[in-house]
Amino acid sequence: SNKKIKISNFEQDKYINYQRIQDNLAIVKNRLNKPLTLAEKVVYSHLDDPHGQDIERGKSYLKLRPDRVALQDATAQMALLQFMSAGMPEVAVPTTVHCDHLIEAQIGGEKDLARAKDINKEVYDFLATASAKYNIGFWRPGSGIIHQIVLENYAFPGGLMIGTDSHTPNAGGLGMVAIGVGGADAVDVMADIPWELKCPQVIGVKLTGTLSGWTAPKAGILTVKGGTGAIIEYFGPGVESLSCTGMATICNMGAEIGATTSLFPFNKRMSEYLHATNRTDIASYSEYFAHNLRADEGAHYDKVFEINLSELEPHINGPFTPDLATPLSKFKDEVVRNEWPTELKVGLIGSCTNSSYEDMSRAASIAKQAIDHGLKAKSIFTVTPGSEQIRATIARDGQEKILKEAGGLVLANACGPCIGQWDRQDVKKGEKNSIITSYNRNFTGRNDANPATHAFVASPDIVTAFIFSGDLRFNPVTDTLKDGNGNPFKFTDPKGSELPIRGYDPGENTYQGPPKDRLNVQVVVDPKSKRLQLLQPFSKWNGKDAEGLPILIKVKGKCTTDHISMAGPWLKFRGHLDNISNNMLIGAVNAENGAVNSVKNINNGQYDAVPNVARDYKAKGIPWVVVGDENYGEGSSREHAALEVRHLGGIAVIVKSFARIHETNLKKQGLLPLTFTNPSDYDKIDPLDKISILGLTSFAPGKNLTLRLNKTSGETVDIPVSHTFNNNQIEWFKAGSALNCMAEQHAH
Ligand code: F3S
Repeated sequence: SNKKIKISNFEQDKYINYQRIQDNLAIVKNRLNKPLTLAEKVVYSHLDDPHGQDIERGKSYLKLRPDRVALQDATAQMALLQFMSAGMPEVAVPTTVHCDHLIEAQIGGEKDLARAKDINKEVYDFLATASAKYNIGFWRPGSGIIHQIVLENYAFPGGLMIGTDSHTPNAGGLGMVAIGVGGADAVDVMADIPWELKCPQVIGVKLTGTLSGWTAPKAGILTVKGGTGAIIEYFGPGVESLSCTGMATICNMGAEIGATTSLFPFNKRMSEYLHATNRTDIASYSEYFAHNLRADEGAHYDKVFEINLSELEPHINGPFTPDLATPLSKFKDEVVRNEWPTELKVGLIGSCTNSSYEDMSRAASIAKQAIDHGLKAKSIFTVTPGSEQIRATIARDGQEKILKEAGGLVLANACGPCIGQWDRQDVKKGEKNSIITSYNRNFTGRNDANPATHAFVASPDIVTAFIFSGDLRFNPVTDTLKDGNGNPFKFTDPKGSELPIRGYDPGENTYQGPPKDRLNVQVVVDPKSKRLQLLQPFSKWNGKDAEGLPILIKVKGKCTTDHISMAGPWLKFRGHLDNISNNMLIGAVNAENGAVNSVKNINNGQYDAVPNVARDYKAKGIPWVVVGDENYGEGSSREHAALEVRHLGGIAVIVKSFARIHETNLKKQGLLPLTFTNPSDYDKIDPLDKISILGLTSFAPGKNLTLRLNKTSGETVDIPVSHTFNNNQIEWFKAGSALNCMAEQHAH
């Protein structure tokens, strides 16, 4: 049992620290003295300080040490640029980068991939060289979708990982607590800073019965309510009827009800999957360790739901939102009643949710029945394999051939239309139409940027059956179609093996491991690039109180991270801090004039765009502050919303209240997030006041600072402001950022 277990087949000198997991768990169990859920076992066994950490579900903030980090290519850009600015020689925990989000579907896998490599060359070159330099595993474009690759190669029972993508929980299908985070969190973990998570509540879902026929693992999840901030933990006799990749699908879909993550106990199906993906050591060790990979008898859940898999019916979700779920038997009526466009234009299968070998096999079994009976597809049909390994295996085993015969266009192993990378030609923008996908999300415009597209979500076999009808009013379980001779034809249940009998075919080698000699690797960033820019570390605190600062903007009302750093077209600059900073606060309402993106420059009295005024202050060496309202920075964890403010010369953000993640992100970038001790003091601030922040030289946890307002009349007003900095975070402020602080510690 003391055998070292390699953490993956790609990382030769990294091991799973089962001993630490076991030891930490013993400490925590001793302290809490009660039976634990599986989620708690996995999370608490990764505590940074198992002896001293406060542990209260739904209340305390845990400091954790994840086992791994996974980054997709869109979010990896700023994460790696930030990590580099800390000047560390390599990432602190095993990390991978996956090129899956930037490949546009147009005419088919090979050509689309070649085009993406050309268009995104500078991004891929940067990610590849930065990965090589900092000891990161790099999965090239064409390798597959992040969550599929993680499941195939990196997830392991009892592990804790974070990933910069909402569907990271997919790895829960292999018993891993896998949580989607923003780039700033990933940077922390890569830089050896403990990762903070609000101690999650745990919802138990007991599965009984068995899944069969057309019913897919997806069905039923949305009946679980109240998942926000909770881990959903499955257990019960029904678990054994699910394949490992089916469990992953369920965990993936849990993101749609806001769950922190979802997770299954270690079981035989996981073991088989680990064997099939060449990780026999992990499988046998998990068996040995299984008592730590399931909940204790009598563990307490915050809520418990029961789902009888035998009673579940297939569902179709949508349009416009995944949480509108209609049982297949009622779908036709709903289509008619709501006047959804009945003609099915496109069926799309694959994506990280449903692109396993089993999913593809089941879809192919439906296509084969139709082809054998002379049916022809009535809708456009696309197929996205989840990984190169799946693509190669279904090419070898014949499923790909069948899907192609059904008219399927095999797209690159990538996110493709799921993330809107789809050059759709069959309908015009604004034209009302229907599509069905096997994806997880279907928000308005997500797939094809057409707000009039009614996107529905179903399992891959149902999607495949639908393309032979071409009509949304079709029910593949009960209705008949006409075969090639005009006789009635009815589908029988889809079938497909979970794992390839002949083993997986790895396909083309799409992995780039870090080279032996990393020191000599040059990270490639073209200084003229519009998409990428190297970051300089932010400057340290000058040791003084800040005096006479202009208010760049006094924001009125709602100010989400979207108001602070808009998405949409700006996302192409996500790796170029200076360029993306041109969107800083352009969505926020100025309390002075009620206008958006129009503030007065105190140097010349002229109104100008917010970023322009900030740049003018910065050029003149004048730091500035932002004043804001309630719940400032709610929305996403987007780190750009903090980085831009720091980059353009902000020093403090003073508000009535913060969204916690944004507050922490501001601290990480060396800014001062402060709150009015008396929220009504917000009204005492005139946008043209100058502000001094007093008390910084004795900055301490729990001790208020003073805001001195220098009014244009010459009068001064002092108001107290509070903060939530702890000692460690005060060091971040002094060093200029959390990363600077970490870099200083590593240098010593
Ligand atoms: Fe990609 Fe869609 Fe999954 S965008 S990571 S395939 S949800």
